[in-house]
Amino acid sequence: MSVNEELAQLTDLIRYHLHRYHVLDDPEIADAEYDVLFDKLVALEAAHPELVTQQSPTQRVGEAPLSEFASVRHELAMLSLDKCATEQELTDWVERCKNRLESDESLTFTCEPKIDGVAVALIYENGALVRGATRGDGQTGEDITANVRTIGAVPLLLGANDSSAKEIPERMEVRGEIYMPVAGFEAFNEQARQQGEKPLVNPRNGAAGSLRQLDSRLTAERPLSMFCYSLGWVDGSWQPETHMEVLEHFQAWGLRVNQQITLAEDMDACWRYVSSLLERRDSLGYEIDGAVIKVNSLDQQRRLGNVTRKPRWAIAYKYPAEEATTILRGVEFQVGRTGAITPVAKLEPVFVGGVTVSNATLHNMDEVARLGIRIGDTVMVRRAGDVIPQVAAVIESKRPKRARKVKLPENCPACGSAIVHIDDEAVARCSAGPNYCSAQRKEGLKHFASRLAMDIEGLGDKLMEQLVETGRVNRAADLYRLTKDELVDLERMGSKSADNLLAALETSKKTTYGRFVYALGMREVGETTAHNLADAFIDLDELMDASQDVLEAVPDVGPVVAARIREFFSDPDNRNAVMELREVGVKWDTPVQTGVPKPLRGQTWVLTGKLEAMSRDEAKAKLITLGAKVAGSVSAKTHQVVAGPAAGSKLTKAEELGIPVMDEAALLVLLAEHEVD
Ligand code: IVH
Repeated sequence: MSVNEELAQLTDLIRYHLHRYHVLDDPEIADAEYDVLFDKLVALEAAHPELVTQQSPTQRVGEAPLSEFASVRHELAMLSLDKCATEQELTDWVERCKNRLESDESLTFTCEPKIDGVAVALIYENGALVRGATRGDGQTGEDITANVRTIGAVPLLLGANDSSAKEIPERMEVRGEIYMPVAGFEAFNEQARQQGEKPLVNPRNGAAGSLRQLDSRLTAERPLSMFCYSLGWVDGSWQPETHMEVLEHFQAWGLRVNQQITLAEDMDACWRYVSSLLERRDSLGYEIDGAVIKVNSLDQQRRLGNVTRKPRWAIAYKYPAEEATTILRGVEFQVGRTGAITPVAKLEPVFVGGVTVSNATLHNMDEVARLGIRIGDTVMVRRAGDVIPQVAAVIESKRPKRARKVKLPENCPACGSAIVHIDDEAVARCSAGPNYCSAQRKEGLKHFASRLAMDIEGLGDKLMEQLVETGRVNRAADLYRLTKDELVDLERMGSKSADNLLAALETSKKTTYGRFVYALGMREVGETTAHNLADAFIDLDELMDASQDVLEAVPDVGPVVAARIREFFSDPDNRNAVMELREVGVKWDTPVQTGVPKPLRGQTWVLTGKLEAMSRDEAKAKLITLGAKVAGSVSAKTHQVVAGPAAGSKLTKAEELGIPVMDEAALLVLLAEHEVD
């Protein structure tokens, strides 16, 4: 094969995988395999620089920074959309379209998500991307070609993946929306937070800011994607008849088209779409601010025409905003179950994401510092889906003169103990424990009763607060000692609800091992970890006495989590609380070993030296699944030592004590025998 052929083949293959990954969201190979192909192309091109073209997949990493964006005049103005927000308004629009057309014409619509990103126009000449521009004021935009080229979902060359695709026009302008997927936005912000940088306010700002970078190498690092949603203009023989036909051609040429777009035959079908898309809004993976309904026939579109920069043939149905601005009236400090102090924004009530919001979490003091928030500030509040409301940004230009800084109190608002702020931790904590701090106790008990823990039906936060405040409940076991007399005295508690609560408490006594571990509310032990712990240790006594090493071998448990668990169970109060709960009748079935049997139950193993087929942690985890305890040092109680090359003192000691030693190969045989992989 000649170099030319090899290059062409490799380029085609890479384009194919790029298309599968970015356009179809359906990759066929692992990222690492893709990287191998890509590196091969880079090497081949480096050896033959004269063969590198502008359309090569390697030419997407960004270029030297520009000093400014050139402005470009759109050959055809980029319009905006008329909006509506009720079923009636949408019906009126459909009627207006009908009235302007001949009475016997049939009228079909396309329904699409209104992507919340940045509108762009891409020009393709003979299939090659030659320019990307922003909408600007609709007449003139900015040339962002270098930035657009870095976006994986934007093909540099059309038709590279489908030889049967229709002929590509000589020149055409493709319009669409560049956006930041929600997952990418969240990952980007998580990293920004870790590095102490300002997070992006929302995915839309994220997309806009990324496209505004003069240094396209920075754009290349941002998670951006694109949906193409209309044809601007076209030179050549292609004369599409419907909008749907345009989208089908786009897709065949390798452009990314939204998969939620459908045809609707009448107003009812449009309305069903608008309603169902709203229900799916939070699970799409990208933000939308509405639905767009368009007349499907391009001839009808032409005849309907435009009014002042808005087409008559399309309308946007706007969904409720997920962001709103309001005023920060104050900051309260809440004490969590583990003593963590959380600043909570007290807001001027504002309607956002479909509900009225008057509180929003500020997470911790680092977040307060990053936002630079002051009491009196105008803030942007976000509530997307069911996610708790967040303060996304501060609008500093609206800051009043007397705005006050937010200060962390020195003492716990609940118990008055000192608040400590350990340097490398983001959270500040009440220095007292739950036995002294009533707020921690209350929160711990709420957690205990919660749905994923003991699931005590009807025992909500308000009721728990009353129970603790009136001194009826101090520790979890007290719940199970409540009498009807004690309950009927409470506010809003009749005889019937008292009976119901007692019955619910009785039912909750029969729980599962995993739920019980979770209900204990150990720091760093979430639901998954709790269930992993329950899987790894046959019973609670074994878990309570587990060593740091053995704990660390449980999936999800690292040194910090293991230390927290040790800390929890070394506190006699906690051990007593567990005992008391068992005494009042909390119980669970000992899990039946449905998975792997535990042939090594009761044995203590020690790993030493280097292992080759797996890491020591992996070996540990595997031995634990077989029921063994894995200890860090050899003693007379050790049953078996696994020694790899370079084993040192532990091996010597094992030999001295006469403890059986096996090598890694023997361990692998053992694991295979028990079907642990
Ligand atoms: S069609 C003349 N379709 O909404 C019609 N626009 O308010 C031009 N947008 O600037 C646009 N998703 O940024 C169309 N599926 C979609 C869209 C969409 C988002 C944006 C676009 C445009 C704005 C109009």
